[in-house]
Amino acid sequence: MPEPTALLRRPRRLRASEPIRRLVRETTLSVDDLIYPLFVTHEPNTQREISTLPGQYHWSVDRIAGECEAVAALGIPAVILFGIPAEKDAVGSGAYRDDGVIQQAVRAIKRAVPELLVITDVCLCEYTDHGHCGLVRGGEVLNDPTLELLARTAVSHAAAGADLVAPSDMMDGRVAAIRRALDAEGFTHVPIMAYAAKYASAFYGPFRVAAGSAPQFGDRRSYQMDPANRREAIKEVLLDLEEGADLVMVKPALAYLDVIQAVREAVSVPVAAYNVSGEYAMLQAAAANGWIDGERAMFEILTGIKRAGADIILTYHAKEVARRLGGR
Ligand code: PBG
Repeated sequence: MPEPTALLRRPRRLRASEPIRRLVRETTLSVDDLIYPLFVTHEPNTQREISTLPGQYHWSVDRIAGECEAVAALGIPAVILFGIPAEKDAVGSGAYRDDGVIQQAVRAIKRAVPELLVITDVCLCEYTDHGHCGLVRGGEVLNDPTLELLARTAVSHAAAGADLVAPSDMMDGRVAAIRRALDAEGFTHVPIMAYAAKYASAFYGPFRVAAGSAPQFGDRRSYQMDPANRREAIKEVLLDLEEGADLVMVKPALAYLDVIQAVREAVSVPVAAYNVSGEYAMLQAAAANGWIDGERAMFEILTGIKRAGADIILTYHAKEVARRLGGR
């Protein structure tokens, strides 16, 4: 009879020391994977901490380039911009004005830090007085009439120098409308990252306070996806790719790791995941209370999102990750 221990399989052998753990590690988080979201306000001379996103700020146009220099110095390849305009109206005209807050910010950043990839979020909700992502009539969010405004917004971002546009509105057909408009205006080189599988989520709460973009009536469930649906995510992703999306996104990330995995397996394009405001805020709150080791939890969450299949992660933790990983 062999000793019972001889039959014992010992997976612990490969966990015995950090060097061997490094050798057998299957997933690696890199600063190369990260996109850092930034909020730009119309107010001058401003760096104000956002109450719902501790450690994140509202930046004025005159200060955003300085922050982007710091982001680039950390080795982070890209930022995505969200705007807080001076005024809102029913048609979200602040989104597509040539002198809008995003358009000004993009020009300032590209002038100061040309090597940083500047992505713009294309949506109307921060610019409409009703807070919805499209035109509203009789309490309904209209699809087709919104497309032209989204396309106009994307073109104005590209004209300001945006390197990549990211529609987050969830109107049907917006990727095609934006692709057509960009091409017609000579921006054939500007890629589209579609918020393809974007769910109607409670985890956007802290962002909506930060961006002042909460809907003034109703909710977004008639255009953003039902959290219960996974197969529908594949449908949305395939449609956006057919319409010309270059990259696709799943959003939020944490409660949708299965969706990230399913999308990763279904397509060959890069898949991004948005580690959204509510996910960040929960972690910050627990860490601030001493309930959780914030840094370890952050790496565990982001590694989990990558392990699920994300190639790219949009995260408010980007600077902290870059600092810890020792960016350039
Ligand atoms: C705009 C938009 C939202 C987010 C990104 N783009 C809010 C929303 O859809 O209500 C959320 C980002 C986050 O929560 O971090 N449509």
